[in-house]
Amino acid sequence: MTIKVAILGFGTVGQGVYQILQNKQKQLTQLTGESVQLCGVLVQNKAKERILPDSVLITDQFDAILAQEPDVIFEAIVGEQPSFSYLTKAIDKRIHVITANKVMFAKHGTHLLDKAANHVGIGYEATTASGTPIISMITKLLQVNSVTKIEAILNGTSNFILSSMQNEGKSLNTALTEAQAQGFAEADPTNDIEGYDAFYKLMILSQLIYKRQPNWADVPCEGITNVTTEDLTSAKTSGQKIRHIAAIEEKNGELYASIKPQALPPTHGLHSVDGVDNAIHLISDLAGPLTLRGPGAGKLSTASAMVEDFVHILQSYPVKLLQY
Ligand SMILES: NC(=O)c1ccc[n+]([C@@H]2O[C@H](COP(=O)([O-])OP(=O)(O)OC[C@H]3O[C@@H](n4cnc5c(N)ncnc54)[C@H](OP(=O)(O)O)[C@@H]3O)[C@@H](O)[C@H]2O)c1
Repeated sequence: MTIKVAILGFGTVGQGVYQILQNKQKQLTQLTGESVQLCGVLVQNKAKERILPDSVLITDQFDAILAQEPDVIFEAIVGEQPSFSYLTKAIDKRIHVITANKVMFAKHGTHLLDKAANHVGIGYEATTASGTPIISMITKLLQVNSVTKIEAILNGTSNFILSSMQNEGKSLNTALTEAQAQGFAEADPTNDIEGYDAFYKLMILSQLIYKRQPNWADVPCEGITNVTTEDLTSAKTSGQKIRHIAAIEEKNGELYASIKPQALPPTHGLHSVDGVDNAIHLISDLAGPLTLRGPGAGKLSTASAMVEDFVHILQSYPVKLLQY
């Protein structure tokens, strides 16, 4: 049997997925027992040149993708819409979906998971810490544990900038320009440096751990733009590091979340996290404190999370769910 897949969005992440599907064909066949065939790619601008075989449909029409009858859809578009509508339609058609889209999933993930119930696979590892498998760690390895608290560095760009400012005395603007030159930061870095990116990721973790999210308007969300060189120098003098921390915990049935820069002492689990890495420090009732650290963005790291989700879904569900 052949597993037909489609990729929505063929930018950094979409191309990464394609690259892994190509390069790991043999391993994927061994793991899933099937061969994988890319049947379509959805883009916004059809005129752009794409390095894809002629057999692959390149379209800007989602219905044309559905007409290919894919078994699995990888979604790597930017923003809430049209991604949410597309994935809703895909699940209705009983197509497994795997997404990297944190903006969409923070808001609509619960709806999509409810819609899919246990009939259609949904993978969203890539939404939160790219290839660093925090979602899998919580869902698959901490099933009996209760996670009581999470503190995390969820935005690699902010962490890179803060590290450069503190370790090398650079200004925010110089560090940001360097991050952009090295491909860590987007041309429009607002979501990264104003804290929104970390906010969306924290809401996804909240939904996973506590089965609900705090009221978004009640969550203080501060980026790194107000951190001064003086703040960093003073923290350094006392052996501390300023890091951009997304935190959430449940106390007396209430959720308390915040996203803000914080000075961390050397004893803190996230103190040593420099550069573009993400790291998640969680407290669990049985296993105790655990820290997971790794790349929080990037083509292959993010696509890796999506392809790992793909394998897991194919190992957990019948491949052919389609009822056209
Ligand atoms: N980059 C990362 O390291 C990273 C990490 C984790 C999660 N993510 C998430 O992954 C998603 C993709 O990120 P990216 O960095 O790959 O973005 P990107 O490089 O900007 O690529 C976006 C792709 O989506 C296509 N697209 C945009 N709007 C569309 C629409 N309305 N209909 C059809 N196609 C559309 C674009 O088409 P054209 O090619 O025609 O412009 C492009 O191919 C985002 O949700 C992002 O938050 C990214």
